[in-house]
This record gives sequence, C-alpha cells and structure tokens, in this order.
Amino acid sequence: MQLETSTVMEHELAGGDYRLLTLASQRIADAVLPGQFVSLGLAAPADAILRRPFSVCDAGAGRLTILYKPVGRGTRAMLALRAGDSLSLLGPLGHGFPMPPSDAAQPPLLPVLVAGGYGVAPLYLLARRYPRRGLLFVGGATGRDILMTSAFAALGWEVHVATEDGSLGEHGRVTTPLDTWLAACEVDAKHDFFACGPTGLLHAVAQRAAAGGQRAWVSLDRHMGCGVGACLACVQRLNNDGEKVWGRVCKDGPVFDAARIVWE
Ligand SMILES: Cc1cc2nc3c(=O)[nH]c(=O)nc-3n(C[C@H](O)[C@H](O)[C@H](O)COP(=O)(O)OP(=O)(O)OC[C@H]3O[C@@H](n4cnc5c(N)ncnc54)[C@H](O)[C@@H]3O)c2cc1C
Ligand code: FES
Repeated sequence: MQLETSTVMEHELAGGDYRLLTLASQRIADAVLPGQFVSLGLAAPADAILRRPFSVCDAGAGRLTILYKPVGRGTRAMLALRAGDSLSLLGPLGHGFPMPPSDAAQPPLLPVLVAGGYGVAPLYLLARRYPRRGLLFVGGATGRDILMTSAFAALGWEVHVATEDGSLGEHGRVTTPLDTWLAACEVDAKHDFFACGPTGLLHAVAQRAAAGGQRAWVSLDRHMGCGVGACLACVQRLNNDGEKVWGRVCKDGPVFDAARIVWE
C-alpha cells in the first residue's frame, strides 16, 4: 500500500452522468490487481479532506483510471478537477478477484461478468488481464447507465445489455439476459461468475451460482471510513466454516466468494 500525491492527467465524460478520471501514478498503477481499489483524498467545503473509495478501472504505463458518478459531497467536488491538479491517492487497497495462474495446465473456466452501473469499472481491468475471453452482462436503470460496452467488445468479450426502462438492450434487469443464457447452457457446463454492482444484483448472481454449482466472486460496495481496516465502518457478516463472523469489506474484501456472504 502506497500513499502518493498524484496529478490529474485527463478528466472526461464517459456517458450519462459518469466521468473517467485518469491519474498519474507509478507505484499504485504498477501494483494494482483487478478488483482492488484506491482511496482518493478530495478537497471538500470548509477545507476538510474527504477520503472516498473507487475501483481501479484501468491501469498501466504510469497511469490509472477511475470511472465515477457524482452522487454526493466528495464526488461532486471531483467534478472540479482539471488536468494538472494534484490529489492524494492511497492504494492499492483490499483483495481483488482471483486470477488463474499464468502457468496453469488447464485453461480457466469460461468467465461470466455481471455488472450494474459503475460496477463495470473493476470488471474492465479484469477483462483486460484475464487469460480467457468470456461474457459480460451489464444492466442499469436507463441507457445512460450502460458504460464501456464497446471497450469490452473491443477486447473480444461478448456483451449483453439490459435496462429497466427498455431504452437500451433487453427490457428488464440484468438477470433477464443472464437467465436466458443460463437456460441455454448445457446442464453440466461450468463457468465462473465475477460481479460488481448493487447488493440485489450480487445476491441474484450468488443465488444462480449456488443453484448451478458454480463459483461466484462478488465485489461489495459499502460506505467506508478509513479504508484500511481500522474503523469498522464497513463490516459484513460472513460464513466461516458454519460460524458467522464479521469481516471488513475494505480489508478482507471488497471481493468475496459469494458463498461466504450472509445475505441479509
Ligand atoms: C470498494 C468500493 C469501490 C467503489 N468504486 C466506485 C467506482 O468505481 N465508481 C463510483 O462512482 N463509485 C464507487 N464507489 C462508491 C463511491 O465510493 C461513493 O459513490 C462515494 O464514496 C460517495 O462519496 P460522496 O462524498 O460523493 O457521497 P456522500 O456525500 O458520502 O453520500 C452521498 C449519497 O451517496 C450514498 N452513498 C455514498 N457512498 C455509497 C456507497 N459506497 N454505496 C452506496 N451508496 C453510497 C449516500 O447514502 C448518499 O445518499 C465504490 C465504493 C467502494 C466501497
Ligand atoms: S473502512 Fe474502516 S474498517 Fe473498513
């Protein structure tokens, strides 16, 4: 984990209300793994510094990119960032998605990514680095919440879109095209799920994985304080060999084996 003062390189619209923020970072960009996150130090009103967690969407060559949506004090303050501005960056933080070893004798199972809204962010870094191409199912309230699909397609991933208002892709939740695809799979087909988005979406993926005897890894989104395991602002109930224990999403996650989550 490093604490850096980073410089804004680019800040652009990504579609809908979302922005892509690219930061110069040598050490964090080199070290980050798919699913890990960074904590940005943001100047807020009254000269306070807010720390906020963001998944790393892309990284390499001394730069990392964050895909964000302005929703509150910190993220609205981010809108004012311009190329050349500096800000504090802490990371990489947490545990990301498991990646197959590069020297594995067998090819990995078919990866199936499921995202809601900015949940595509950590899955894009995963898609770039995963040794096998697979499928992306992405959902949102409207077409303005569907992001980066052409970037996934350009990497060779098969993309399925659903929106709740029917303005893009299939009409309904992301589980609509996912269930259609699952129903068409052979009974003994094996694949691995990787999901990031609202809790309801993660739970739906976990249920489908459990029903089909598949593995699923889900990235939880929690309000965070310290981001490094000290304040207990982000706790989550987990199953631990039949016992229920508290885990810290920032330190033990944000990515967990879906079978370990106590869905409440
Ligand atoms: C591991 C992790 C990765 C994340 N990655 C991204 C990302 O890639 N892109 C992105 O846009 N956001 C991401 N987030 C969420 C982001 O951290 C929050 O949007 C941000 O903290 C909001 O800060 P704020 O000061 O703007 O909002 P606040 O003023 O703190 O809150 C504004 C509103 O947003 C709600 N809110 C705040 N944080 C969250 C949250 N974590 N989950 C649900 N509701 C929340 C509050 O209830 C409130 O209604 C991630 C969160 C986590 C834990
Ligand atoms: S945010 Fe402080 S323990 Fe997780």
